[in-house]
Amino acid sequence: MRILRVSSNKGGVGKSVIAINIAIDLENKGFNVLLIDADITNSSIATYLGLANVKHTFLDILKGKRSIDECIMIHDTGLRYVVSSNKISQYTTIVNGKQMHRLKRELLKLKYDYVIFDTAPGYILEDIASLYNMAFIVTEPYTGSYISALRLAKFYDKNNIEHMLIVNKIQNRSYELNIKEIEESYNSYIHKIPYDDNVNRSIQLQRPIIIDKPNSKFSRSISRLSERVIKMSD
Ligand SMILES: Nc1ncnc2c1ncn2[C@@H]1O[C@H](COP(=O)(O)OP(=O)(O)O)[C@@H](O)[C@H]1O
Ligand SMILES: [Mg+2]
Repeated sequence: MRILRVSSNKGGVGKSVIAINIAIDLENKGFNVLLIDADITNSSIATYLGLANVKHTFLDILKGKRSIDECIMIHDTGLRYVVSSNKISQYTTIVNGKQMHRLKRELLKLKYDYVIFDTAPGYILEDIASLYNMAFIVTEPYTGSYISALRLAKFYDKNNIEHMLIVNKIQNRSYELNIKEIEESYNSYIHKIPYDDNVNRSIQLQRPIIIDKPNSKFSRSISRLSERVIKMSD
């Protein structure tokens, strides 16, 4: 089992969209995948997949109130996923290492090939970091976003977590950072995802773009990314 953290140091860069679509793509490529929305402060997966009535959440698992199986939902696409908090009172909950390590022990019993965590922007406790095998660091092609991404890369290096940079929403405008500049300062794998309005359209329709528009620029890029993840897992 590989546990992947989809992360960033800034919000709104595309973590949730990437997490949902790569989870579906890996599932379609024959792997057993579980997607977990661990962004308690600003959960998106239920919204993006169009779910109104959420009963059990990620926090119920962490608090030991429910088993993982009781919280797993199955989407029309076959995707298995766990949604995040649905009450304002939960938004400021602080997750501790003990809870996450217990969750990992439970996950190991379920035999998934990939468990993908969609997360809130920023760092995590080092104790929690050790749960992850690899991390995506998602950034937009702008200096502010990228400088923050580099800080997160240092954090992963310190904690021995393999990471790759995902430069999302590329439009090739003159004021964007170009990939050569990024390559000079980031020394691991870099994956590029173009800006694609079909992403916004699919969110509006509540249909994952990888299903709705499999040949869109975004979907093709996600498919290449999942192939890369599979290779990294060998
Ligand atoms: N490649 C892309 N092209 C166009 N819009 C995108 C792309 N990636 C993400 N978006 C848009 O950016 C917004 C933020 O995406 P989201 O996945 O919620 O970010 P995060 O989880 O990092 O906060 C959404 O409105 C989404 O439609
Ligand atoms: Mg998100």
